[in-house]
Amino acid sequence: VNSAMFWRLAVVVALPLTFGAPWTAPKAAAQEAKPYRLVDGKVDFGTFNGFRRYHNACHVCHGPDGLGSSFGPALVDSLKRMNKDDFAAIVAQGKESEIGGVKLVMPSFGTDENVMLHLDDIYAYVKARSDGAIGRGRPERLEKGQ
Ligand code: HEC
Repeated sequence: VNSAMFWRLAVVVALPLTFGAPWTAPKAAAQEAKPYRLVDGKVDFGTFNGFRRYHNACHVCHGPDGLGSSFGPALVDSLKRMNKDDFAAIVAQGKESEIGGVKLVMPSFGTDENVMLHLDDIYAYVKARSDGAIGRGRPERLEKGQ
């Protein structure tokens, strides 16, 4: 693959993702490497940090353990059809829609360092929940260096 071909391929792959073609999302999600590490039921530090950050910033609307609430959708379901780029874009930019006269507002966290600096970890945690790799509640954490 020469570099001109590479870029043509990259554009072909990136365009539908950028514009959120729904039929490409599940495939893209399935192709991602797992963002979390799990040994004997214990999670890596990043995933554990993601659990803590999620429960600081997101759970008031998205419910404990990513299961959703009357204020926001269940992110464990969202990540079955959404890849990391889609996830990150929505967190950074926010999202609004109106369903049956009810306005849904996902605030933008683009300038919130408590979220943006830990976005990889939050994603890893929610993804692990979405894959069913970890259960509800506080996950156990691997020791340093494990
Ligand atoms: C004030 C309530 C609120 C908070 C806090 C909040 N969200 Fe949301 N979020 C929403 C609502 C409401 C929607 C649905 C928006 C829509 O459909 O237009 C949403 C949608 C989303 C979506 C898209 C889900 C989908 O299925 O389309 C993602 C991803 C998301 N939020 C991630 C997060 C993360 C990560 C955090 C924490 C950093 C967070 N949200 C914090 C209310 C919130």
